[in-house]
This record gives sequence, structure tokens and C-alpha cells, in this order.
Amino acid sequence: MSTLINTDTPISTKPLAGSSIRFSDLIERLNRQTSPPTLEQLNLWVSSVEIDDVELEPYIGFKEGNYWRHRVCRNDAVEMLVICWRPGQQTPIHDHNGSHGVVRVQQGLMCETIFAFDTDKGLGHDTDRECPVGTVTGAEVPDIHQIGNPASSGQDLITVHVYAPPLGVLRTYKLGSVQVDLYTPNDFPS
Ligand SMILES: [Fe+2]
Repeated sequence: MSTLINTDTPISTKPLAGSSIRFSDLIERLNRQTSPPTLEQLNLWVSSVEIDDVELEPYIGFKEGNYWRHRVCRNDAVEMLVICWRPGQQTPIHDHNGSHGVVRVQQGLMCETIFAFDTDKGLGHDTDRECPVGTVTGAEVPDIHQIGNPASSGQDLITVHVYAPPLGVLRTYKLGSVQVDLYTPNDFPS
């Protein structure tokens, strides 16, 4: 199941006073990992990090055709990405093929749709939600979802993602179908 972490929920991981960490500290912490951090650890870290515009600037860039994934760091245990989305850009319906992860909305408005897979009926719609700035969501295995920047948002979206272990080939799905395809995200501009 997906978990939505924000200041309204009893399981909020909003940092206590003085407990925030810098973006560079988070990168360093991730680079030190020799085994995949738990979802709870990722939630805590990504909820606690403070990211300023200067630190984020190297990872900002938009494409007109599709969202753009910018890798911040990656090792065998964990990876971090910054993804930049124009209005109307969204992922395929996918799962993370054995990885868990968290997403933080850094700027703009993210929409997420959760799906349920039935081996007889195929893929069905479950829930939709909108995630404003500051939202941190966690995806456990085997969540199936689609995220993106609503076409009606009128603004760019910037999200920060941490996955453990790093994403490889993802599985994609189609509504009403039992078909599962493989998909390799394209990280960098050609
Ligand atoms: Fe995802």
C-alpha cells in the first residue's frame, strides 16, 4: 500500500526542531549506504531534508516531449533522482519491480493515481490524489501507480525521488488488461 506522509497524518515524519538535514548531507548519507535503507528510513530522511534553490539548480531542466529524470547519486543500495515535469507530463502506469521508494514534491503540484491488479480482471483504478508542495509519499512493493503534473496545473513540477535498491527495468501496465510489459526509464537527454 502507498502511504501518504504529511503534516496532517498521525504518522507524520515532519522534522522536529533542529533535526533537519542539508541536501548535501543526504547525498553523502546515501553514498555511504552499503545495503538498501528501509522505507521508514527513506521517509524520515526525505521528510527532514532542506533543499535550497542553489543546491537543486544542477538538476533542473525540462523537456517538451517528456518529463526529464536527473540522477543525483546512485550506488548498489540506493539512488536519488530529481524529476522535472511540464504540465501534462506523466509516467506510464508502472510498479518499481522490487524497489521501494519515496517521492517529495519540491515545487508545483503532483497527481498520483493508484491501481489494483487482478489476475482475472486485469488492472483497475483504485484512488487518485493530489500532492502539494512538501508532500512526501512512500511506495512499498508492489504498488502500481502513475504520477505526473496535471495538464491543468499551469505550473512546472519538480520532485525528488529516492529508491532502494536503485530502479532497473520497471513493469508497466494497462487499464483493464492483465498484460505486463517491461520499461527502462530514459534518464538522460540524447
Ligand atoms: Fe513510481
